[in-house]
Amino acid sequence: MGKVIALANQKGGVGKTTTAINLSSALATRGCSVLVIDLDSQGNATTGFGISNNGSANSYDLLAGKAALDGCRVETSIANLELVPSCIDLVGAEVELAEQDDRHTRLRSAISQSNVSFDYVFIDCPPALGFLTLNALCAADAVLVPLQCEFFALEGLSHLLKTLARVRRSLNPSLEIEGVLLTMHDSRNNLSEMIVQDARSHLGKKVYKTLIPRNVRISEASSHGKPILLYDRTCSGNLAYESLAREMLGVSEEEEAAK
Ligand SMILES: Nc1ncnc2c1ncn2[C@@H]1O[C@H](COP(=O)(O)OP(=O)(O)O)[C@@H](O)[C@H]1O
Ligand SMILES: [Mg+2]
Repeated sequence: MGKVIALANQKGGVGKTTTAINLSSALATRGCSVLVIDLDSQGNATTGFGISNNGSANSYDLLAGKAALDGCRVETSIANLELVPSCIDLVGAEVELAEQDDRHTRLRSAISQSNVSFDYVFIDCPPALGFLTLNALCAADAVLVPLQCEFFALEGLSHLLKTLARVRRSLNPSLEIEGVLLTMHDSRNNLSEMIVQDARSHLGKKVYKTLIPRNVRISEASSHGKPILLYDRTCSGNLAYESLAREMLGVSEEEEAAK
């Protein structure tokens, strides 16, 4: 398998799901093969791709050992991009997993048993640091942390960083921080700028150069079940996720245009 990246932050509403949908789409349209695993019982990544839960195998079945990864993957409206949908049953998975000896490694095993290798696997985590997120952190090579540009943005981060350190000590020694992504940035707002400076001074190079602006088209797209690039290619939100994809791939806009 290529690189497995967990999108994690125990805070809700910071842009985990939005980033899972739109970064994966931007990478897939650049030729990468990508899988998104929706690990949140709310299923926002699933509906954000316009996929409805029709009783097919899903991420709950995967964790419960009732289905293999290759039996859960479904196609999305973007070529090269597949999804393991979520299911409301995930609500109970926290409790059910707590009783199992391999409660932290279920997802890791499931991913390692896939017959198909994706360039990128993104795991969209729920807004909590329970067993579901721990499964994601255990399965991942790296974690991408979206931070909303608002007051208290950095407050929860120390808790998350402690959890990452704990996971490294006990479950997954090679877990890295892929990057910290500042989301819902508003250049007209001084507070947004303060958060950017604060994050850069505390976290240095880990913070992506790309800032994701607050852009209503992004949430409109999700409510229409579409990645932003299929909804409005020219809006600032899409341009930002395209820029993030290039940053991740290490190519400039000029290099890409020259191809
Ligand atoms: N850059 C953005 N601009 C405007 N709205 C956004 C942006 N990113 C996310 N949203 C909206 O904010 C809400 C929370 O985002 P979401 O990605 O679901 O967060 P999380 O998965 O961390 O809970 C959603 O309604 C989403 O559409
Ligand atoms: Mg979410």
